[in-house]
Amino acid sequence: MTPIIVASGNGAKALPDGIRILRRGGSALDAVEACARYVEADVSDVSVGRGGLPNILGVVELDASIVDGTTHRAGAVAALVGFHHPISVARRVMDTPHMLLVGDGAARFAAEIGAEKIQNLTPSTRKLWIEALAAVGATPASVRRAKKLLPIVKRVIAKRLGTVNFIALDRKGNIASAVTTSGWGYKYPGRVGDSPIVGAGNYCDTIAGGACCTGYGELAMRNLTAKTAVDRLAEGMRPASVAREAIMDANALDPAPFNIVVLAADGTHASATNRAGRQYAFMDTSMTETATKARLVARE
Ligand code: GLY
Repeated sequence: MTPIIVASGNGAKALPDGIRILRRGGSALDAVEACARYVEADVSDVSVGRGGLPNILGVVELDASIVDGTTHRAGAVAALVGFHHPISVARRVMDTPHMLLVGDGAARFAAEIGAEKIQNLTPSTRKLWIEALAAVGATPASVRRAKKLLPIVKRVIAKRLGTVNFIALDRKGNIASAVTTSGWGYKYPGRVGDSPIVGAGNYCDTIAGGACCTGYGELAMRNLTAKTAVDRLAEGMRPASVAREAIMDANALDPAPFNIVVLAADGTHASATNRAGRQYAFMDTSMTETATKARLVARE
């Protein structure tokens, strides 16, 4: 089988980093971590890592998870503040007796393992945050003084959702998956989405395949979308049908933007969305460039 990595569209630029690892016989786990780190460091992506949109108080809270489809070991962090690579912190959580660390505990753990500290709010995302507040007559000082944040969140929030997904199949046939995000832009502090919730936004199994979500994470949490998708692969459903069914499940709850990428254990893949014009990306070790393909659109 030819080693391959499948990604959400915003992961396209990162794929050569992961493919280099797979070409030299490296693991799917190392490949998805390397790809996720690439996007986390890319300040032009306002949905992931440094340069990701902050919460309503102007603090960038990051969520990430990584899953080893062979052992079903997983690591995740949520609402992590002040570190450059949440995916690598998540990977180190995998080596502890725990699976998910959040907030102050996640930051403490990141510091203890020597993870790189950084201010993830950039001048550009600070400006976007101030403009978003100004559009509803608020300012950084007024939100910091506010006794109740939810009314402000509801006015500011415009479902600014983005995340990056990677699923890799390596030379030995192992599958791993990684998801990393700054979550919903201008969210309520402490809001955690589907990305660090294994089974919701991210899941894989080396025997069946993997699935990862982007879009309105609450829908993936309510439907346990990624695990459901992998269960459907295990039952023999093809990736295109699995992806379409996942979007239909989300649409049945809410028409908010929702997307999925699916990779089967035989290397076939597909992606679906409920919005037109969305792409996903993939690259295998025989390719010299990343390829992108339209996501299937499922609307009912
Ligand atoms: N899917 C990313 C989020 O909802 O946080």
